[in-house]
Parts: sequence; structure tokens; C-alpha cells
Amino acid sequence: MNTIEAKDKQYIWHPFTQMQEWVESPQTVITSAKGITLYDTEGNTYYDGVSSLWVNIHGHQRPEINQAIIEQLGKTAHTTALGLANIPASILAEMLVEAAPEGLKKVFYSDDGATAVEVALKMAFQYWQHRGKREKTRFIALDNAYHGDTIGSVSVGGVDLFHRIFQPLLFEPYHIPSPSFYHSSMKNEAEFTEYCLNALETLLKEHHKEIAGLIIEPLVQAAAGMLMSPRGYLSGVRRLTKEYDVLLIADEVATGFGRTGRMFACEHEEVSPDLMCVSKGITGGYLPLAATLATDEIYNAFLGTMAEKKTFYHGHSYTANQLGCAAGIASLEIFAKDRVIEGLKTKIACIDEMLQGIKSLPHVGDARQCGMIVGIELILDKDKKIPYDWTQTMGAIVCMKAREHGLFIRPVGDVIVFMPPLCSTEAEIKIMLDITKRAIIEITELGQSAASGG
Ligand code: LLP
Repeated sequence: MNTIEAKDKQYIWHPFTQMQEWVESPQTVITSAKGITLYDTEGNTYYDGVSSLWVNIHGHQRPEINQAIIEQLGKTAHTTALGLANIPASILAEMLVEAAPEGLKKVFYSDDGATAVEVALKMAFQYWQHRGKREKTRFIALDNAYHGDTIGSVSVGGVDLFHRIFQPLLFEPYHIPSPSFYHSSMKNEAEFTEYCLNALETLLKEHHKEIAGLIIEPLVQAAAGMLMSPRGYLSGVRRLTKEYDVLLIADEVATGFGRTGRMFACEHEEVSPDLMCVSKGITGGYLPLAATLATDEIYNAFLGTMAEKKTFYHGHSYTANQLGCAAGIASLEIFAKDRVIEGLKTKIACIDEMLQGIKSLPHVGDARQCGMIVGIELILDKDKKIPYDWTQTMGAIVCMKAREHGLFIRPVGDVIVFMPPLCSTEAEIKIMLDITKRAIIEITELGQSAASGG
């Protein structure tokens, strides 16, 4: 064990990690990264197959983003947004509004996906207070939702393993079914969509007077295992929320900035939400930054004199951080200059082709794709859809095997997540998915053990 690994094990408490297992196993210490490759202290290299937890877009050490941060550093790293404006935050806000779905006109900055969600929930709540509809205080959340780890975002979450223990601390939203066709018992996708939308309409009919907003991960429920909603579901949710006067909050933290093949997932179904949360890819994956975008209608409801007490009393120390915003501008400039979205079509087709071979494996129940987002669900019995015992951690073991072969991926439960940086070439995508396939076969069919850990 090198000295850094020893220090890590002595001092660091890692997120989403059973530390007892962590300290007992060998761990990878990253020294640097370039393009889509990570380098460790032992001289090994790994493809970054999950974009460093779904954040990296144009690769590591992208010269334009490095340069933008260095230039900004020569001016200032950070000044507060409470009482002061700054240049990169103003420029980035305009670019975000231009890139976002129609109608989103104002940008409220924060630092992480979870804070962007907190902001949206509080804005939605306060909006109705100002509108005089004081009884609109409740939210609708989807089963299997994940919106971050703060108390508010956990309240609208629905992943039992992560969220159940905190129940006594949470506010209680209404829940609607997760729109995951694979996990439903229904045979026909159109009927399943109708069933999900009917459940929402029934709830809205009865309770819309007390509901402030509905929060959704558009197209993909990411942390629950890349669960993908059927075509027409999102637009159906938009139609119903409008009809029943409920705000639609789109959490594009995972799906935003090109991951689904469009700039934002909402575009696939021509949906304009009332509030939209973005983070992760906003800086190209360089620095923590987030934003909650709002319509003029919502923003205007907060206007008035100080004495009217309509101010949105919310803000973080690092809000509108200048380095983060400079990185964000550089990242959006690369999207335009390199025509990144247009370039994704062939990469998405390449992934689709590779997944056909993976889908046919005996222990792969489903291999789902939405643009550059992939979830490969491992299963004990494919025909009867019997999952592995979750304590076997098959997903984690397969990912450790992939790491031995030079690919860093991280599962959610028994779903192998593949979400490469958008700049990955087709050749690199093929290599990464070949390694994934090999690791799945070695673990699920040949029973080869992998070094545990992670
Ligand atoms: N909203 C969505 C749709 C997200 O996927 C995430 C984080 C957030 C909000 C919160 O963003 P943050 O506060 O982290 O910046 N626990 C899993 C993966 C979590 C995925 C991160 N998504 C794991 O153990 O890998």
C-alpha cells in the first residue's frame, strides 16, 4: 500500500461506500487524467467509462477548459453573488437560457445537483404562496426517483436502499409509479404508458388543489438503474401537470448537456418544464456548479418591495462561482464549435450495435440505452426475471473485473452503468463495451472472481 492509499484509509470517509470493505481491500489512487483515460499511482490506465460519475463531457484536461479556468484564475477565483454581480456568471446565464427549452428565462445558481433540486422545490412552494394558493404545499414524486442526498431531495426520492432510513426526517410527497416498462408486469408498452399516466391523472383529479409541483428525471431514472420511460410518458406528464395547474420540475442533473443525444432530455418530447435543475455536465465535469432555471412567470411572482417579504431567501457561499462559470462557458463553446450534439448520432448507433451482443448474454436481463446513457441489468434467471441476491453484489464484482481489464465503471445495484464522456470515439466506445461484455461473461458465466473493493 503506498502512502497516499494509507492516508486515504486513515482519514477519508468515502461517499456511498461501506468503509469496512474499503479499508480492507486494495484501492486505486488516481494521479491524473487526460482525454478519457485515468492514470493511477501503480502505472495502470483506465478508460473513464462513467464520465467520473456522469459529469465529464469533453474529456479530462481539455485545453480550452483548462485555459478558461487559468485565465479566470488570473482575475479572481470567487466573489460572492450575494450583493455582487460577476462577468462569467452573467455570460453563462445567457448561454444557459439560450440552450434551455423554451420559456426558461432565469438562472438561479447553486453548487450541486441536490442543491439545484432544493432550490426548485422551495421556489415551487413559495411561488404558490405568493400566488395566494396557500394550500398548494405538496409534491408528486416518482417511485424509484433519485434527486440527491440532502433532506429535501431525499424527501422526493424513491430508492428504498438509500432513502428508507431517513423517513422520519422527510416531508411526504405523493408517489406515482416508476415508468419502467422492463420492471412492470405489463406486456404492451403503450398500455403501460397509459397506465402510468392514468395513475397520475387520478391523483391530480383528487389532490391538485394541494399540489405545488411534480418532480421528474426526464426519460431516464438514473440512480435507480438507468430506468427508461416509454415514449410519450414525459409529454403526457407535461400535459397533465399543465391541465391541473401543477408546476413541472425537470431534474436534468444526469440527463442534461448532451447525454441523451439532445442538449436536454426534455427536447426529445418537446417539453418545456416550469423549473429545470442542471449540474454535473454544466462545467464539462471540472468544477461543482449547478443552476435552477425558472420561467418568467415564477420569477415575477417573487418581485415586490423588501417589506412585502417575497424575496427568495436561499443562497450558498459559492453560488455563481467564477471559476465554475468560466469552465461552463468554455464547455458550451465546445458544444457549438465542435458540433458535439450532431456528432453523437454515430456514437449512439455504435453503442446500440454493441449492445445487441450484450443483450443476448444469458445473465443480462436488459440492456437499455438512451443516447449516451446505458444500463445493463444483470439477472440470475433471464426467463423468469429472477434477480441475483443483492448482497452478492454482482454489479460491483463485474465492475471490478472490468477495472482489471482497464475500464473504470461503477454499477447501481446489479445494473452496470456505462456513460462515457461525449468525446469518446467510436473505436474507444467499442473497446469499452468489449471489456464490459468480457467482464460480464467472466463473472456470470465462468465464475472468475475479481479483486473485491470499491
Ligand atoms: N439529480 C439526479 C437526477 C442525479 O442523478 C443526481 C446525482 C443528483 C440529482 C444529485 O446531484 P449531486 O448532488 O450528487 O451533484 N449513488 C449512486 C449514484 C448517484 C448518482 C449521482 N447522481 C452511486 O452510488 O453510484
